[in-house]
Amino acid sequence: MPIRWWMKWGISYTFSNLPYGRPLYEKMLRRFGELSQVSSSTRFNNTEVLLKMSRRWCDGVEGKHVVELGTGWVSAVPLGFGLAGARVDTFDVSRLAADDLFIQTVEEYRKRGEQLAQASGMPVEKIHQRLQEIEQASSFSEACQLLGGAYHAPFDTTALPFKDGEVDVVISNLVLQCVPKEVIPLLLKESWRILKPGGIALHRIRMSDEYSPPGSGRNHLEYLKYSEQQWNRWFNHSLKHINRLRAPQFLELFRQHGFTCLECGRTVDHQSIPFLQQLPLAQPFRQMSLEDIATVNIDVALKKTNIPEKKYATTAVGVGFFPIIELDIPIMLVRAFV
Ligand SMILES: C[S@@+](CC[C@H](N)C(=O)[O-])C[C@H]1O[C@@H](n2cnc3c(N)ncnc32)[C@H](O)[C@@H]1O
Repeated sequence: MPIRWWMKWGISYTFSNLPYGRPLYEKMLRRFGELSQVSSSTRFNNTEVLLKMSRRWCDGVEGKHVVELGTGWVSAVPLGFGLAGARVDTFDVSRLAADDLFIQTVEEYRKRGEQLAQASGMPVEKIHQRLQEIEQASSFSEACQLLGGAYHAPFDTTALPFKDGEVDVVISNLVLQCVPKEVIPLLLKESWRILKPGGIALHRIRMSDEYSPPGSGRNHLEYLKYSEQQWNRWFNHSLKHINRLRAPQFLELFRQHGFTCLECGRTVDHQSIPFLQQLPLAQPFRQMSLEDIATVNIDVALKKTNIPEKKYATTAVGVGFFPIIELDIPIMLVRAFV
């Protein structure tokens, strides 16, 4: 019998409240959950989608400096980009990429060389040559270094160790929906800062309830009935955070932070629309169109173009012998005094 949604939720909620809950939770995912079979992970397909997007918008990733936000457990995305010739610095707030999962990921890439070559536009011989190089590595971290990059975790991704305009491409796969709402502007600000003028950001975002996959006994959009308070109280915890932002909200945030949207591939779950019509949606979802609410996936390619639109300007202020401090000052005030 497939696992019911409330079991999935109950297990993660219980572990989040236990001492040593995280390693215990990981053990369970390895035994029964998404980590039990790395070869069938969707991350390999996700990597191919992102590589194809990179070909459309920045002529591929060979020789490019790529920064990934949110490495996760299965390192298919950073390794796939590395095998395609990018220098990848991958960051996560938690150190999840274990070495045995890395070895399984490399094994899977040995079988998928041809697909990776097609997605990235690299000759398959080149991919296999790089695979041979990283087969000498005993850890994911070492493999990243052999490919010219690094694994940084745990790391505060709102303060990345790069100069302004140093990076060609920023990527994330199934991460932005897991970042607390108040942190997303900081991540976007930081991505904008490190990207070269005209640099590209590629994000795959999933916007459905991870506790309610098919067969779990609940529609994956039913989670939109909870108020923000209920959702944060019962469903967001130290092991899982889902912000429930919808596609137009993400797109508006990108625009406000100085990115122009080049491409937005949407997956709309049309089958769930009749269900949504009778669901008592919580605020602020009531104001949105059903199509926007039922958008469960977006693949976006963004270009760093504009100066971020700001209500606030970050300004360095030195007062007497006090150290230089960073203050957020409403831009109107700054304009009034300059
Ligand atoms: C659903 S997982 C996806 C991981 C990986 N990208 C993949 O494709 O498997 C979400 C990841 O986002 C990470 N994460 C959450 N908040 C983050 C932040 N502020 N900066 C970077 N990573 C973050 C989590 O630690 C987790 O590894």
